[in-house]
Amino acid sequence: FVLNTFYCKCIVNIKKLKRESNIMRYSNLAGAEILEDYQTFAQMIKFRQTEAKKSVIIKISEVSHIEHLKQFCECYARIVNIFPYNTIDNNRFVLMECSSDKDVEALRKIAVCKASPEYAHCVTPFFLYKPRFKLHINQKTLNKDNYEYYSNFETPNLDEINQSLKKIESVSNQMMFLYNALRITELNIRLRFYTATQISYYLSQLFINLSVVPFGSSVNGFGQIGCDLDLLCKTNISSDDKSGWKKFLFMTQVIPLVDRNEQKHFLDVVGTIMRTCIPGITDVKKILEARVPIIKFRNLYTNMQCDLSSTNMTALHMSELLYLYGQLDRRVKPLVFTIRKWARNMNLTKENPGQWITNFSLTLLILFYLQTKDILPSLTSIKIFSDKSNTIDNFDWFLKWKNTVSSNDESLSKLLCEFFEYYSFFDFKTQGLCLRDGITKVKKDVSPLYIYNPFNPSLNVSKNVTISELLRLVEHFQRAFHIMVYSTEKDTLVKLINFDLNLTINNGFNNKNKSEFINEKFIPNVTDTNNLQKMEKNIIK
Ligand code: GTP
Ligand code: MG
Repeated sequence: FVLNTFYCKCIVNIKKLKRESNIMRYSNLAGAEILEDYQTFAQMIKFRQTEAKKSVIIKISEVSHIEHLKQFCECYARIVNIFPYNTIDNNRFVLMECSSDKDVEALRKIAVCKASPEYAHCVTPFFLYKPRFKLHINQKTLNKDNYEYYSNFETPNLDEINQSLKKIESVSNQMMFLYNALRITELNIRLRFYTATQISYYLSQLFINLSVVPFGSSVNGFGQIGCDLDLLCKTNISSDDKSGWKKFLFMTQVIPLVDRNEQKHFLDVVGTIMRTCIPGITDVKKILEARVPIIKFRNLYTNMQCDLSSTNMTALHMSELLYLYGQLDRRVKPLVFTIRKWARNMNLTKENPGQWITNFSLTLLILFYLQTKDILPSLTSIKIFSDKSNTIDNFDWFLKWKNTVSSNDESLSKLLCEFFEYYSFFDFKTQGLCLRDGITKVKKDVSPLYIYNPFNPSLNVSKNVTISELLRLVEHFQRAFHIMVYSTEKDTLVKLINFDLNLTINNGFNNKNKSEFINEKFIPNVTDTNNLQKMEKNIIK
């Protein structure tokens, strides 16, 4: 067996291994650091998709196999990067980036022709046919410490975060720390695009004009470790209809699927195909009766929990908008990460959607607040969304905004404090948030929280939030504002993100009934009142 011969002859050079193991530490870096130059959303997506198409995933059983595997693969393909990782099931994989998709093809060919069931320890899940080859390892010459594995799937432990935060003096630096500790890593970003590309690859064999693209927090710059992977089916409608005979295969040619029933049928079929035909896909659940029909599944090899929806281009535009806002000012992301973490730990946001605020709506609250501070522009003043065709212009616009926006140089800490203050006294009773114009507008209906959909002002993004959830949210805004004002710098963030029962909120029900309190709460009269004095009355110290 040719591979055995190859490995028997393999002499491992430890020095070389040490040097090269640096490559494998790239996964500590976040995507933004590697892609230093600004890319438009479309450029970023294209870049990541190309990268994913040049990558394969290989399952290995031993850390010590990596170098052998690399040397073996180098006989057939040019390898650019190697990222080893562990999934939560404790399976070991390597994400290997080649220099072109032709290299991937070359690897696929040998994987297919050398497949042999007796060598079950080395499998490349990307390949339709599992490649297996036996590794002959000289254990004495290998130093396993040269290889680090990354489990990029678990949220950092709160105790560890607390310990680290206590060592940092200023709140702004604590926020930066939190952002760096929580954001998704380079490897995680690659695995997300890899997952999408892999599903795209299989589905495109059946649905000729279909591709699967990630959206939501995986691509908008606000993704935290462990966030779900939102995917949508995108159709490339071309005027060239020579493939018309394939129409009968499915309805991808009549997409966009505006009709909800069509979407349900389409996702039903896709779910079945995925369950039976795509390697590594497990736990497929069809949630077709939801407001937005989706298929939930897990990819075992990339460890991604995915939600696949039908064609929904607004969601992609929304991701683009959030991505752009995140790029416009360096303070946006640390602020959003801190507030999202705070909300999650206070149980204001939850893993599943319900009658509470979602991460998405919360992010819009933050972005709107930054618009009121002149840190971010309104949607109408962003040229990119009024003229989508001219990308060079978009880029110029971006640079121009970046260079002119520095008039507000408030610290992260001050922005955080003022965010909590702003929404502690916001007139939720009558006003809605309009990011399109960057101003508040009278609510269009009785929904407790009203955030105008930036792309469709007739819709309220936060329609799901009930009055009691909004009340809870406002109470927590007040509590957080109180902590920000009265805590020492060093304690502030730890107190904020850890729920302290001793710091309970006076929910105002003591002397009043609930509806009385809600009425009072939502008819604020704060223009002539010092906010802080009002806080004193509302909060039990
Ligand atoms: P995570 O909680 O980290 O997953 O944040 P996320 O931004 O990915 O949120 P989620 O997975 O709930 O939704 C994915 C994307 O769908 C969002 O980023 C939005 O682009 C879009 N989206 C979510 N909720 C709504 C909504 O109520 N209205 C509209 N128009 N789009 C929404
Ligand atoms: Mg998501």
